[in-house]
Amino acid sequence: MSFSSDTASGVHPKILEALHSANAAPSAPSYGDDALTRQVEAQFDALFETKTAVFLVPTGTAANALTLAALTPPFGSILCHEEAHIHCDEAGAPEFYTHGAKLVPLAGAHGRLSAETLETHLTALPSSIHQVQAHTLSLTQATEAGTVYPLDHIEALCRTAKRFGLHTHMDGARFANALHFLGCSPAQMTWKAGIDALCFGATKNGTLGVEAIVVFDQKLAETIAVRRKRAGHLFSKMRFLSAQMQAYLSDDLWLHNAAHANAMAQKLKDGLLTISGATLEHPVEANELFITLPESVLTALEASPHSVHRWNGPHGTLVRMVTSFNTSEDTINDCLRIAQGAASTA
Ligand SMILES: Cc1ncc(COP(=O)(O)O)c(C=O)c1O
Repeated sequence: MSFSSDTASGVHPKILEALHSANAAPSAPSYGDDALTRQVEAQFDALFETKTAVFLVPTGTAANALTLAALTPPFGSILCHEEAHIHCDEAGAPEFYTHGAKLVPLAGAHGRLSAETLETHLTALPSSIHQVQAHTLSLTQATEAGTVYPLDHIEALCRTAKRFGLHTHMDGARFANALHFLGCSPAQMTWKAGIDALCFGATKNGTLGVEAIVVFDQKLAETIAVRRKRAGHLFSKMRFLSAQMQAYLSDDLWLHNAAHANAMAQKLKDGLLTISGATLEHPVEANELFITLPESVLTALEASPHSVHRWNGPHGTLVRMVTSFNTSEDTINDCLRIAQGAASTA
């Protein structure tokens, strides 16, 4: 099984069942005027213990870019971690959708920004017509380094951002994995900590392809519906996105999936760290490992069904390994058997 990404894994059977059930009705209202979409909106209100505005889209990039465009004017900037997906891996979609807002990357250990770094940056920013002014802070939870912001860090970052008049966005492509690690409520990790708008990921955790833009400040949501249409992301057969999300949120499927993926990451980490020379780049707090392994181990894994992603180039020995809802214990055991076998014969 591939450990290269959680998007390499398939679709949870309950999601496929939900798609089949949605297809049983010969017709339903289009563009989100259907009963399943209403149910999903109610599910998000209940989950986040507040009135939310919810917009389903098929990809995380669309969710991030549309949300950031609603929060940031073309002449503003978005502050984010230097390894943020929005900065490194979205081919300029946030700049495109905001009509040219500037992404400003900031440094931080283990994929996390600190309130001190943010404060220093904002304090030093000249308030002049010649400089782009900061409008939005974007945090990724879980981070691109597989770590998780503790609640007090999110609160401190949002407090600082608000003091300088910024909006706050959370890229929650792996929201469920982070939430499971912290053991807190969705409300605590978002609006109660000061987050204005969340991109709630589901595709990496078992759906076929659906993400939710969840906005806690209704005023900020006003333009998203039309932005989504204008950008070509309003699904006419919306009920099939909604069916996925409805099943994902029902019976805590999303939390079970994330708990399993996180547990498998811990098991993989514990086993790989028994190999001489194996070192972790970042703490493992969600479902991703960034680990340096001996070349002999990597060569053996690459020759096996358990592919990994060399993170620092084709000859680098730092790899990313990602577990998911359908990574079995047998798969982990087999991967460890191959890795440990290669290490002992090297
Ligand atoms: C942190 C993060 N945000 C957003 C995305 C974007 O998701 P998509 O590939 O569905 O556009 C990804 C995908 O890898 C991601 O890792």
